[in-house]
Amino acid sequence: MRSFLGRDILSLKHFERHEYMRIFQVAEELEPHARDRRNGDLLAHKTLVTAFYQPSTRTRLSTEAAMHRLGGHVVGFADPRMTRAGDFYQESIKDTVLMLEYYGDVIAMRHFQQGAPHEAAEWASVPVINCGDGWGEHPTQVLTDLFTIWRERYTLDGLHFLLVGDMRMRTMHSIGYAMSRFGISASFVAPPEMSLTEEFKQELRDLNLRFDEPETAEEVLADADVIYMEPVVQADYTRSRVEDGEEKGLTPPAYRVTREMLRDKAKTDAIVLHSLPRMDELPTDVDDTRHARYWYEAYNGVVVRMALLALVLGAVE
Ligand code: CP
Repeated sequence: MRSFLGRDILSLKHFERHEYMRIFQVAEELEPHARDRRNGDLLAHKTLVTAFYQPSTRTRLSTEAAMHRLGGHVVGFADPRMTRAGDFYQESIKDTVLMLEYYGDVIAMRHFQQGAPHEAAEWASVPVINCGDGWGEHPTQVLTDLFTIWRERYTLDGLHFLLVGDMRMRTMHSIGYAMSRFGISASFVAPPEMSLTEEFKQELRDLNLRFDEPETAEEVLADADVIYMEPVVQADYTRSRVEDGEEKGLTPPAYRVTREMLRDKAKTDAIVLHSLPRMDELPTDVDDTRHARYWYEAYNGVVVRMALLALVLGAVE
């Protein structure tokens, strides 16, 4: 197995099964820190730098919380407009990263440009973790998602995923790669203008992922072990920031999963995941059904990111 020590976490495209499993094992070992709200000292001599060029609630705060849970330190920015990258100077990623690497031991970056964390990794002598790049990928979110399913079933093999939402989203790319490693079959449901690109579909076929593209979530809900939701009413991820608009529109019924649909059609042990934030594709009355796992998924965001930080910083092998 490739060592995680010093490794950039940029994409799940080349992640192997045993690498997922190693992260899940370490996550289970470190979970008591999160569960018991008890900070340890595993990373007491390390510092995380967060460089978030786009808004985030969960990814940034859970990565920072993970570092604190392991006794580490955190510096960073959550609003690039208050840095030289966001003002008159428009400082480049290269110039920014060549300093950030001296301020800490690992850089967690979110950026509106696809490939920005990859560029940062070319210049940084410390590991770079991709926390979401444009329409590119969101590897730490999908590691969290898979860990949540794995904790439920202790296997991922042979499951059927129903994925509903905008297929341009970075989570959809990362999960596409991840599913191919576990013999998972998939149904992707999206509005035509948000469907999988031909290029990405060919990549998934090359990775031997079995998938189809039904028109509505409802028609395949009964087959799903995992219902993976994302909005179709949402912000443009290639922009640094999208302010609240007056008119957002409603999600068409084909791309919603409701409490009634789950009651009438879903397997009793099917689980619903959502990386959040949500719009109306997942009504709030789903929250107290047996199927909802998205709050547990958000909790696992801390657990999995503890594991990733511990691995890339060499605190565990
Ligand atoms: N799931 C996720 O990426 O949420 P944030 O945008 O709040 O980080």
